[in-house]
Amino acid sequence: MDVQEVLKLADDLVFINTGKHLDNLQEVILRGTLQGQKYSKIADESHCSEGHIKDIASALWKLLSEVLGEEVNKANFRVRLEQVKLSNLWNFNNKDCVHIGNVNVCENNSQSPKVPNSPIDEEFLNKGNSESKLRQFLTEMPKSGIFYDRTSELATLKQWILHEHTRLLAILGIVGIGKTALAAQLVPQIKDEFDFVIWRSLATSPPPSILQTNIIQFFCRGGAPVPAPNADGVVVPENGTTTGGLPLLNYLQKYRCLLILDDVQMVNSSGQLAGNYQLGYEDYGTLFRQVGALSHNSCLVLLSWEKPREIAALEGQNQPIRSLQLHGLGAEAGEILREKGLAEHQKWSELIEQYRGNPLWLKIVATMIQDLFNGSLSEFLSEDKLFLGDLELLLDKPFNRLSESEKQVMSWLASETAPVSISKVPENLQLSRSQFLKVMQSLGRRSLVEKIPEGDRTFFTLAPVLKEYVKTNYPRPNCE
Ligand SMILES: Nc1ncnc2c1ncn2[C@@H]1O[C@H](COP(=O)(O)OP(=O)(O)OP(=O)(O)O)[C@@H](O)[C@H]1O
Ligand SMILES: [Mg+2]
Repeated sequence: MDVQEVLKLADDLVFINTGKHLDNLQEVILRGTLQGQKYSKIADESHCSEGHIKDIASALWKLLSEVLGEEVNKANFRVRLEQVKLSNLWNFNNKDCVHIGNVNVCENNSQSPKVPNSPIDEEFLNKGNSESKLRQFLTEMPKSGIFYDRTSELATLKQWILHEHTRLLAILGIVGIGKTALAAQLVPQIKDEFDFVIWRSLATSPPPSILQTNIIQFFCRGGAPVPAPNADGVVVPENGTTTGGLPLLNYLQKYRCLLILDDVQMVNSSGQLAGNYQLGYEDYGTLFRQVGALSHNSCLVLLSWEKPREIAALEGQNQPIRSLQLHGLGAEAGEILREKGLAEHQKWSELIEQYRGNPLWLKIVATMIQDLFNGSLSEFLSEDKLFLGDLELLLDKPFNRLSESEKQVMSWLASETAPVSISKVPENLQLSRSQFLKVMQSLGRRSLVEKIPEGDRTFFTLAPVLKEYVKTNYPRPNCE
């Protein structure tokens, strides 16, 4: 690639991500870098301070690193872009045409790729199965392993997605309950109904603009046009402002897409009530809201520990916005214990009940029983305290996200021997009634409290494992 080609590719990558082309100074820095110049020389030639050049360069390397998903710096910039070209994602075969995936997007000027007036990829989408793989981006979806039960959950999800046109759907549940495994079972069963199927994990908390870029790249690889800039060079949806300014929404409207975002809780903030976004991540809320509100045939599936506020506010039986709360496996969880080589079948149900049928918790505890009790379930169950072992580490993650007031309320719930009513604020909690109710609601949205309806009243309690975790890790609230 010559200097011009590398610069053009960098410009396209930046443009796709930010909706803006490289400015003069950024281009000078990249050109200087390609010519082996030091920042001091680039600074002299562009009449800026070296510090300023370094700042701009470092922001540019960061942006390119985020876009490419690997470190880009002054030393490896050319190599990285050569690799992108070789990966066939972006090919420049001549000055007039950019090849993205299998589709040529021809330019009418040298500045920006042209978006065709009508979907150029109709033909592409109608091709046979060999191309369909190019529109299914599932490398982040875990391989499905041995999987028990969940027949009714799978049927519900298929009904909602395929027959009731659910546009926004959350699969919710505590750590280890099987959200990812369930979705990984579901996707192969329904994927051929969609033009595009994309699975992305938010475990690394990608900023919304980066996620959007990544996903748009998948669309482009699958034959969709790159987004169009408006007169100011900013990417906007084709139909003006209705898509909230998020170009991704345009693709979800134009194609029938199944987009699965896993580990969505990682874009929420810690230390606050459930459903608040980290600073700078609020666009996720906008995206979820708009996906629920706009008319389209796509479905966005969110897998999370926390129910997103947008879903809590808008979901309903007759709405295109739904959530599925995952509970533990029933007796089928015994298969997990069988796999782990536990005997004493007659005691399995007791263990499953204590660990609430949570497949991961059961795997962890069964391993512990093998390691420490020589596989004797009765010896393990005769311990007077529920033993957490490695489960404690697993539970640290969701518990470390709680606000102080949530921790207080969890301590109170753990200290109660029977399920409690929330008709009054407990005296040892220094919370107003409204704060108390908000906290209870938030804990419910995190799947941390169990609700027990009794007549026209509801009582609350904690699963034994959570109770034990809280007793071990949190002091009693404001103890006398
Ligand atoms: N129905 C099932 N049958 C057998 N194993 C299961 C089932 N569901 C989940 N598992 C196993 O339990 C473990 C946890 O499942 P998974 O990762 O899907 O949970 P999760 O809810 O996504 O957890 P996290 O909140 O950490 O993302 C995995 O090893 C998975 O294979
Ligand atoms: Mg998961």
